[in-house]
Amino acid sequence: MKPKVFVARPIPIEVEQYIAEHCEVEKWLGEDTIPRAELLKAVQQVEGLLTTGGRIDGELLDHAPHLKVVSNISVGYNNFDLEAMKARKILGTNTPYVLDNTVADLVMGLILSTARRIPELDQYVKNGQWRRGDDEVLFGVDVHHSTLGIIGLGRIGEAIARRAKLGFDMNVLYHNRSPKTEVEQSLGIRPASLDDLLAQSDFVVLMTPLTPETTHLMGREEFEKMKDTAIFINASRGKTVDEQALIEALETKQIRGAGLDVYEREPIASDHPFLKMPQVVTLPHIGSSTAKTRLDMAKTAAKNLVMAVTGEVPPNVVKELLT
Ligand code: DGY
Repeated sequence: MKPKVFVARPIPIEVEQYIAEHCEVEKWLGEDTIPRAELLKAVQQVEGLLTTGGRIDGELLDHAPHLKVVSNISVGYNNFDLEAMKARKILGTNTPYVLDNTVADLVMGLILSTARRIPELDQYVKNGQWRRGDDEVLFGVDVHHSTLGIIGLGRIGEAIARRAKLGFDMNVLYHNRSPKTEVEQSLGIRPASLDDLLAQSDFVVLMTPLTPETTHLMGREEFEKMKDTAIFINASRGKTVDEQALIEALETKQIRGAGLDVYEREPIASDHPFLKMPQVVTLPHIGSSTAKTRLDMAKTAAKNLVMAVTGEVPPNVVKELLT
């Protein structure tokens, strides 16, 4: 008998077919995110769960006595209650590597969009406001030869550093838990304390995973340390930033602008202050959203799922749950 699995998020048909070769598949058919109550029912008989983002905690695991693995279709796994999973010997997997360059591309897009005010000035042209080309109101700031500070130099941070250094001749600083001497040497980037990085950077990019230690890593004090000409970019997780402190920093012009792909609450409310700020570029959490990368992520997650429910050790068990 094939092991039962539940697919809580839409996935490409070819990926579903691959899973169905090995497993009995049930899936969520609704257009919106599966409601928690439905998910609790759906996991009762299954050995594997394929999902993204929903909280995997003791309550859910207690509803799933046969569960062996939760396979996330994302690199982030802050939705895992690691202690609850460890206590019940449930594997948790993610999709590293396949999205690094795609997310790094988007971060460069956010840097360019905020610095050169691309969405704002696109709207300016479309509104018929364009009269003269040399008008100061169209000025932005240079990206090339400016200083970029990357907080969190994992694989994605490294891919951003490479683009910044080789493509834009930027001066790159990084702040990371552990030093990355090889990357320093190969790319010519420099480590910095968080305070120095904030004080010196023209662009501050936050790329840390969300953990208890990085929750609200950027708050009022950190924004105060940034230059008033600097731009803040977040493509990690919304909760790494105290959003109220960021709103205040933008309102009081403590910083020049922000490029955001993630928020404390997603989707953000239609009356959110960011939506009225021309100096803020707001994207709907699309870091990895290209057709190819999303397919690769779904394939990786499906492989993790199938291996775990058929008795093999999948390659992408998150490090905290490796035994
Ligand atoms: C991830 O995979 O964690 C990304 O946030 C998706 O865009």
